[in-house]
Amino acid sequence: MAFTSNNLKSIFITGANRGIGIALVRESIARNYYVLGTFRNQKNSKELLNIKYEYAEFLKMDVIDENSILKISRNIKHSIDYLVCNAGVNNGFGTLFDEDHSQKKMLEVLNVNVLGTILTVKHLSKFLNKNAKIILISSILGVQKHKGSNALIYRASKAALNNVMVSLSEEFNSRSIMACSFHPGWVRTDMGGPNAHISTKESASSLIYNFEKLKFSDSGKFFNYDGSLINF
Ligand SMILES: NC(=O)c1ccc[n+]([C@@H]2O[C@H](COP(=O)([O-])OP(=O)(O)OC[C@H]3O[C@@H](n4cnc5c(N)ncnc54)[C@H](OP(=O)(O)O)[C@@H]3O)[C@@H](O)[C@H]2O)c1
Repeated sequence: MAFTSNNLKSIFITGANRGIGIALVRESIARNYYVLGTFRNQKNSKELLNIKYEYAEFLKMDVIDENSILKISRNIKHSIDYLVCNAGVNNGFGTLFDEDHSQKKMLEVLNVNVLGTILTVKHLSKFLNKNAKIILISSILGVQKHKGSNALIYRASKAALNNVMVSLSEEFNSRSIMACSFHPGWVRTDMGGPNAHISTKESASSLIYNFEKLKFSDSGKFFNYDGSLINF
């Protein structure tokens, strides 16, 4: 394994094989980070695994398989400055009466988006440097005041995620580690669809630019990808 540039800032990104995740990987590489990116399935991660960069490691991890997180945590040798919990699922944009809101599909959304993030932070926080930043990729769909009744479990999962973020900001306060969440914009990915407003590159470059501007006093806050504050 090729590491060593302990002087490089490091970023750990879950769900790094496609969508916003892989754009964050590319943007981090362009900014000379040490990059740790996770994927679940080798077959649909070829683009990620073909990236050639000396200071990147790609690790197999499923956020809802605790053993897979523990397994990689035994092999991580680099400390982490930015822990970006990006992996997420959306069961669909229907209402509670639609097939995409079956109990099974709703449980999966809560499991991945909420518990998966908690497990990731729980098992990887030991690698966080002093002054590290825990960043949860949430969604504006999770704000309490909203119109519309569609995607209700996805909304609820992101509302819960923002609540978790506040608890994490309290939990890690004494280690001088901050936690916040970001809405990445409406982004053209498999989840966002082709009609979304911005490209993955636009989202990722603005996200990283704003990650780098975060201060400890931003802990517990929810930001838009352009750095503006969102009430939640
Ligand atoms: N796109 C948007 O407009 C938008 C808007 C607001 C918020 N977001 C949030 O932004 C994040 C990224 O979204 P995206 O648009 O890039 O979605 P995407 O294209 O559907 O990609 C989702 C990523 O999450 C990974 N993932 C899903 N379940 C996982 C699990 N159990 N363990 C590990 N990785 C898992 C996927 O891996 P596989 O390839 O293995 O499935 C994939 O890498 C999500 O949290 C999403 O809720 C997106």
